[in-house]
Amino acid sequence: FSLQAFNSFNLPVVTAEIFFPSTIKELAEISIEKASSSYILGDGTNTLFCQDKAPIIIKPNLMGIEVIENDDNFQVKVACAQNWHEFVLFCINSGIYGLENLALIPGSVGAAPVQNIGAYGIEVSDFIVGVTWFDFAQKKQVDFTNAECQFGYRDSIFKQALNGTGIITHVHFLLPKAWQAVDNYQGLNELVSPVTPQAIMAKVIQLRQAKLPEPKQLPNAGSFFKNPIVSKDVFNELNQQYSNMPFYLHDNGDVKLAAGWLIEQAGLKGFRRDGVGVHENQALVIINYESKQGENIVALSVHIQKKVKEKFNIQLVPEVRFIGEDGELSPTSAGG
Ligand code: EPU
Repeated sequence: FSLQAFNSFNLPVVTAEIFFPSTIKELAEISIEKASSSYILGDGTNTLFCQDKAPIIIKPNLMGIEVIENDDNFQVKVACAQNWHEFVLFCINSGIYGLENLALIPGSVGAAPVQNIGAYGIEVSDFIVGVTWFDFAQKKQVDFTNAECQFGYRDSIFKQALNGTGIITHVHFLLPKAWQAVDNYQGLNELVSPVTPQAIMAKVIQLRQAKLPEPKQLPNAGSFFKNPIVSKDVFNELNQQYSNMPFYLHDNGDVKLAAGWLIEQAGLKGFRRDGVGVHENQALVIINYESKQGENIVALSVHIQKKVKEKFNIQLVPEVRFIGEDGELSPTSAGG
């Protein structure tokens, strides 16, 4: 079975077996042996298949959006296979506000909590009250509170301790009626008041379309690396040398740097080889121009890591997940 249409890098990888469960019953029918050696694929927009073959794939097909309106908020329960951006549009068009900054992020709703998607000043975890999980071994659903999801920057328990043991079936959102604009991110702060959710969404769409390539035209998976978080001391040292370096201060004193800026400064913006390359408008994005092999993308990412390490002594860590024939590869082993 070809997965070419199911991964945004457009790689022609194949799998021996793929399941499309659309109910909990169908999920429960997958044997534990197969389920536990499978990889869960949402819309395939954050996955790099590194070899010609992929493991057994479970691509859930559970659909549905349920809204409960309360005096002060909306509770929204969404099934995992709903497309993220379509869900955001549904909310804004229904007068349910809060997710507008996350418009146009590729992927499915079920994948959103896994890596705690974020953009333009918010993270999805800010609005998630719970996640329903189907556990492969117990063959039943379990509910997680927001705290139990252990959300971090592009991180959660689903990517860590629970990886490979089950699947997110539903995500539960709580969206307060008392809406507050988050419009301090560069670009959004130009909006003229009164700022509306619709205006933020339109601006976010415009900003993303200007910088981030549409995967159907230029196959990619959004930001390839996470923005590195360094200590104040490391930051101070770098900042002495590079006073124009973009950064974001964290409450705990750590500092987040812009990986795209580091890659650009390492001279790699627009760099191409073996049919793959660094995007010309946003150096954090790797594009598959014409390669049929994920290993060319792995090799480019290792090259980028090496150049950034040489120049700044900072180790970039991929945000994209590396999947080999036998399952997930740690980015280090994938890079050799
Ligand atoms: N920059 C450069 N050169 C580049 C790219 C960026 O100098 O080639 C500079 C920009 O000028 C800016 C700073 O780096 O000063 C940050 O750039 P940008 O606002 O484009 O955001 P980012 O930090 O590169 C993050 C997320 C994106 C998200 C944007 C907007 C990560 C890994 N990436 O990117 O998320 O859309 O902020 O909020 O946190 C994704 O995760 O796939 C993704 C696209």
